[in-house]
Amino acid sequence: MSVIPNGGTEKITVPQLVQRKSLAAESTTRKKITCLTAYDYPTARLVDQAGVDLVLVGDSVGMVVLGYESTLPVTLEETLHHTKAVRRGVQRALVVADMPYGTYHGDRNEALKNALQLVKEGGAEAVKVEGGERRLELIEKLVEAEIPVMGHIGLTPQSVNAFGGYRVQGKTPRAAEQLLREARLLETAGAFAIVLEAIPRRLAAEITKSVRIPTIGIGAGPDCDGQILVLHDMIGLTFRTPPKFARLYANIGEIVSAAVKEYCSDVQSGQFPSDAESYHASANVHERNTVMAPAENS
Ligand code: KIV
Repeated sequence: MSVIPNGGTEKITVPQLVQRKSLAAESTTRKKITCLTAYDYPTARLVDQAGVDLVLVGDSVGMVVLGYESTLPVTLEETLHHTKAVRRGVQRALVVADMPYGTYHGDRNEALKNALQLVKEGGAEAVKVEGGERRLELIEKLVEAEIPVMGHIGLTPQSVNAFGGYRVQGKTPRAAEQLLREARLLETAGAFAIVLEAIPRRLAAEITKSVRIPTIGIGAGPDCDGQILVLHDMIGLTFRTPPKFARLYANIGEIVSAAVKEYCSDVQSGQFPSDAESYHASANVHERNTVMAPAENS
């Protein structure tokens, strides 16, 4: 190959993110990995331009954008559609597509075909799959096909029915031991990073120390190698009580509501649109129209 894509730019890549952890171990300055979800072109652009390292087209799209009760109904087609839009908006960050429930749980060849579609058509640079021990062979297969894979353990929302709700995981010594084991196995299977969701802070810190790949926490405390949040949770654009770990950085929902109310009121009172917001023809065209109008009507 004669051309190195993205050579000279600071495009974030999978090897770079993994290397950041080993470099951090050697140096005193630790640069955390910043991750957020995005599902469309404008938010993807904003998030990327603001400097986030990784943009996840999460299956949370189902709950925060499509209005589903859970992430379970999200389809491959929906994920593909949103991944394409995000891809068009992102230049620097790594784009990761979440494999929807049911697209990697059965036949492995089918799962590979689905992941390849997210990469080839969607433009994803990696995929994320939920689950630990049960996903090892799948992860190996995807990695063998040159698809970088992000693992996800702890509170895996696609397991909501199996878990009996959205509950913090790894609270008993046995459950904690199992999560630690799963994290190590994911690393061995070839995952390049692991999302740790809703687990005790100390366990997340222990997992982070035990693996060489970066851990990305969501509700897992500050000791992970990076953090991720659902964008809509941190900008007040959901209609549910946000989880304890989601800090509200801006209340866009309130801003949009106020703007729409003001617009409606301006339309009703005749203050919108103003003359300056209207188009005008030159004076002689106007005169022609007024002269022509009676004749035209007769
Ligand atoms: O779908 C999603 O947004 C996620 C993140 C919360 C990690 O899986």
